[in-house]
Amino acid sequence: MSEQILNMTGIIKTYQMGDDDQVVLDNISLTVYRGDFVAILGPSGSGKSTLMNMIGCLDTPTRGQYILSQQKVDELDESELASIRNKEVGFVFQQFQLLPRLSAIQNVELPLVYAGVPEKTRKNRAWKILERVGLGEKIHHRPNQLSGGQQQRVAIARAMVTEPTILLADEPTGALDQRTGQQIMQLFHELHEEGKTIIMITHDVEIAKNASRIVHILDGKLREEFAHV
Ligand SMILES: Nc1ncnc2c1ncn2[C@@H]1O[C@H](COP(=O)(O)OP(=O)(O)OP(=O)(O)O)[C@@H](O)[C@H]1O
Ligand SMILES: [Mg+2]
Repeated sequence: MSEQILNMTGIIKTYQMGDDDQVVLDNISLTVYRGDFVAILGPSGSGKSTLMNMIGCLDTPTRGQYILSQQKVDELDESELASIRNKEVGFVFQQFQLLPRLSAIQNVELPLVYAGVPEKTRKNRAWKILERVGLGEKIHHRPNQLSGGQQQRVAIARAMVTEPTILLADEPTGALDQRTGQQIMQLFHELHEEGKTIIMITHDVEIAKNASRIVHILDGKLREEFAHV
């Protein structure tokens, strides 16, 4: 039995809208094991981003229990939340979110700067991981000197450089054409084979099929499908 790294039980998120409470996450329970590649699939407005914010420790639930790497996240305050987030979660976004004035290697180094890693170690780790994602030749390019797919590779390298427990990706192929998107999915497959734990949020069934587990979200409720692999 592989190690549970994420466990949500009875997660509820409500927003106060006038006199009513709007339930956005409705009694969600989810377990993710080390080495999983999970897709969370759902249409617009189903609660994907809200759930991603919860998983990524950007937000806390109204009710329910969330344990990430044996730590009870639902009880943490802002600063504790920030520190668990920095340690456990590597984010990949639809729009890459690279800093435009920094080179690829400087972008990848940045989380290590915040973590207080000395410069030489930092450069070395950033360079190695850029090589790993196929950008060893482009480390001094700025984002606007790279293609969309290459920018997303830089963003993936940045997400992985701190060796987080989970790689959490929100529509990682949403800004890419189909072929480039498929290359990013190929990279995810390789990272998964190397033992990385990946959670990917998407509205696209074809993209979701790259994962080894698909969890559907609809109106804030989860339903799991054991379809393939
Ligand atoms: N801060 C907020 N206050 C009130 N309602 C909110 C808030 N954030 C989200 N919602 C509501 O929660 C529901 C789910 O929103 P969410 O952004 O999680 O959907 P989504 O699945 O990510 O959609 P999309 O695919 O369009 O990004 C929506 O009905 C939205 O209006
Ligand atoms: Mg969203």
